[in-house]
Amino acid sequence: MPPPRHVLGISAYYHDAAAALLRDGRIIAAAQEERFTRIKNDPDFPRQAIEFCLRYGGLNAGELDCVVFYDKPVLKFTRLLETYLAVAPGGWRTFPEVVSNWLGGKLDLRKTIREELPGLRAECPILFTAHHQAHAASAFYPSPFTEAAILTIDAVGEWATTTIGRGRGDTIELLKELRFPHSLGMLYSAFTDYCGFRINSGEYKLMGLAPYGEPLHTEAILRELLDLKADGSFWMNLDYFNFLRGTTMTNGRFHRLFGGPPRRPEEAIEQRHMDVARSIQAVTEEVVLRLARHARELTGEKDLCLAGGVALNCVANGRLLRDRVFDRIWIQPAASDAGGALGAAFAAWHAEQHESSLLRAKADEMQGALLGPEYSDEEIEATLRSHGARFQRLSTTGLLDATVDLLRAGKVIGWFQGRMEFGPRALGNRSILGDARSPRMQSIMNLKVKFRESFRPFAPIVRRERAAEYFDLTGESPYMLLVAPILPEWRLPVPAGLKGLELLKQARSTLPAVTHVDYSARIQTVARQDNPLLYELLWRFERATQCGVLVNTSFNVRGEPIVCTPEDAYRCFVHTEMDYLMLGNFVLDRAEQPARPAGRRVAPQTD
Ligand SMILES: [Fe+2]
Repeated sequence: MPPPRHVLGISAYYHDAAAALLRDGRIIAAAQEERFTRIKNDPDFPRQAIEFCLRYGGLNAGELDCVVFYDKPVLKFTRLLETYLAVAPGGWRTFPEVVSNWLGGKLDLRKTIREELPGLRAECPILFTAHHQAHAASAFYPSPFTEAAILTIDAVGEWATTTIGRGRGDTIELLKELRFPHSLGMLYSAFTDYCGFRINSGEYKLMGLAPYGEPLHTEAILRELLDLKADGSFWMNLDYFNFLRGTTMTNGRFHRLFGGPPRRPEEAIEQRHMDVARSIQAVTEEVVLRLARHARELTGEKDLCLAGGVALNCVANGRLLRDRVFDRIWIQPAASDAGGALGAAFAAWHAEQHESSLLRAKADEMQGALLGPEYSDEEIEATLRSHGARFQRLSTTGLLDATVDLLRAGKVIGWFQGRMEFGPRALGNRSILGDARSPRMQSIMNLKVKFRESFRPFAPIVRRERAAEYFDLTGESPYMLLVAPILPEWRLPVPAGLKGLELLKQARSTLPAVTHVDYSARIQTVARQDNPLLYELLWRFERATQCGVLVNTSFNVRGEPIVCTPEDAYRCFVHTEMDYLMLGNFVLDRAEQPARPAGRRVAPQTD
């Protein structure tokens, strides 16, 4: 049988639903449902994301040759059932709710998908991949490698929580797996929850908090919570956790071990939380390192592909790179379940290849993760006119020059260009930009634009060929998924004796807005072929200032998804104190805009 021409991948019902469309094995479009519904991490069936993918591909549902869902609902249901039975009677408390949820749609997904896509041909197959098979496929097939080891680490799919595999050409072999409830993702989420951050989105904050603390509890974690083996496999001591019962993550025994009850989100962050964050981060890095070393031994491969939610832990990724466990590392930018949609589609397409089509040199197929919707000048102008906005339209050169001048003047710029990013990071098309040299930029962006008081610095963007002049980074980091230290020549001395959040106000380098308290930075390197406009902006800024680094943060306010449409961008602009908005070639100056509509101003809160 010839491989299916058009394959639609879908992920849904856990968190961050998404859709992805392939044509002849190439990615045409991919997007998360949250961007359209404006509900952060929206888990619902991704109706609008599918509609976008089909529209962008210029086809209707009747032209699809295959639809693939990113996990096996029956297996997942069996896992839930067995888990609940194992912990009965406690588990029965939430059992009826879970059963009705599954019986009410998730188990009969073929029917649901046909109902949602009524145009689908009767002969169009609806397939299911295993959850970690989808993660592994999302890590390997779009990577620049024709052969590689694959490591997937997340909370849980059906049963697997971690897998080691090998990709070669069109084939992925999963060689080993760790099974629920022994899960690095769940362990990290339990600590995220304990420190008062939201599970599935607050993990990034816990990682950002870690450098303020001391690893005082590392030994206790390894002694009490985790039996960690040399090959990175582990058993978790479930006496400290509650997640099998589905009500809370941790229990009283856990709280006693770490010196108190869980922090509520509105409570102040204490040194204790920072020490806990640092300790679990250190343990996570150790587990990831051991798993990676074992993957190398097992596969003999030189390169590594990573996916699964834990692959978003860019501090652990940076450590993996610096310890040179593998020669090269490629991380799927949509590493968590949104990327499962893409992986599922790839898995189905490659399953039908009869010759190894991939055993030839290839490039990163993610197209800079710029796989979402884009808007024409006419659409942007129509939106602006409908709001009575005041704007100017510039040539591309005029836009770049104006942006460089405004950045140099310390202005905060909304930068909305081209196709939206797929995955959790804004990579320069739905971004807010600023001058990384400004000592005040971090607090201006946090308080006037993002409406938060963050202990985390912003991410730097730098042209790929200039990155090594600022950061101790080997290779590239196109998806902002690697943390590396800023080089000593840019560092500033810090007075001794400062602890915890006292460190926050202290400039650490001549690029203070992007330097963390441990001198680390979460880097995005920009290649000309991935994003020519952003590359050109960085180059012009460097020519004007001798500094090749800018601040890049996502274009949204706290608690909202990244903006998708010109309408979203305009609304975000007028409701914040961003100075300028560059919407395609249109420039909006805050000072010239009509009075702001009432409401929506959010009080600043700590991260
Ligand atoms: Fe997952």
